[in-house]
Amino acid sequence: NLGVVNIPVVVHVVYSNAQQNISDQQINSQIDVLNADFRASNNDVNSIPSEFANDVADSEISFTLAAVNRYSNSTSQWGTNDAVKAQYPPVNPSTTLNIWVANIGGGILGYAQFPGGPASTDGVVISPQYFGTTGYVSAPFDRGRTATHEVGHYLNLRHIWGDGRCRQDDFVADTPDSDGPNYGCPSYPTVNCRSTDMTMNYMDYTNDACMYMFSEGQKARMRTIFMDGGPRTGFVN
Ligand code: ARG
Ligand code: ZN
Repeated sequence: NLGVVNIPVVVHVVYSNAQQNISDQQINSQIDVLNADFRASNNDVNSIPSEFANDVADSEISFTLAAVNRYSNSTSQWGTNDAVKAQYPPVNPSTTLNIWVANIGGGILGYAQFPGGPASTDGVVISPQYFGTTGYVSAPFDRGRTATHEVGHYLNLRHIWGDGRCRQDDFVADTPDSDGPNYGCPSYPTVNCRSTDMTMNYMDYTNDACMYMFSEGQKARMRTIFMDGGPRTGFVN
């Protein structure tokens, strides 16, 4: 039994203007959301429909802000090719979650690397206006759920539709089959592939206010990476 796994977080703020140089308060608001969402202490957890009430999980993963690094850089859009990580390399990626807060552009909120990839690019990138809940934030992605979603990928979770049609697996048994992402704030029930979609799962593409759970199956999949032989044992040694 691993107990609660704590993940130290280093945030690299890479800004091309003053707005993007987000405040410590905004950074802390994001750490608070990660802690709430991964411990199922988020204040919207009660919105889960009864059909899924037994599936919600306290993942027993917590986050502590270890350092904030700030870098001014004239690049205004970084894209998703990891250029920002090449310029500002990750700090101790085997024992630290590195988050680059840098403007990606192209309407992309954030992106992540799955466990087991190169150490030099390990971590997640999030555009500043989708990071945290206060300051320079942009509705409807202003509740910190982009980081929850991307850290879910960083901890081995797939999208709940498995990135394919019906029956394409996300390697988690208790997230019902779906044939694609849901967007906005879907009404309940939204039925695809003959079952109700778990549109309120953090690994769908719904608005921040409309996603509020990880499942027990997702919890088990995340925690496996910390166990012997797994790709993120550095966090428990
Ligand atoms: N990688 C996804 C994107 O950029 C993140 C979606 C996060 N969803 C959210 N509601 N915050 O589209
Ligand atoms: Zn995703």
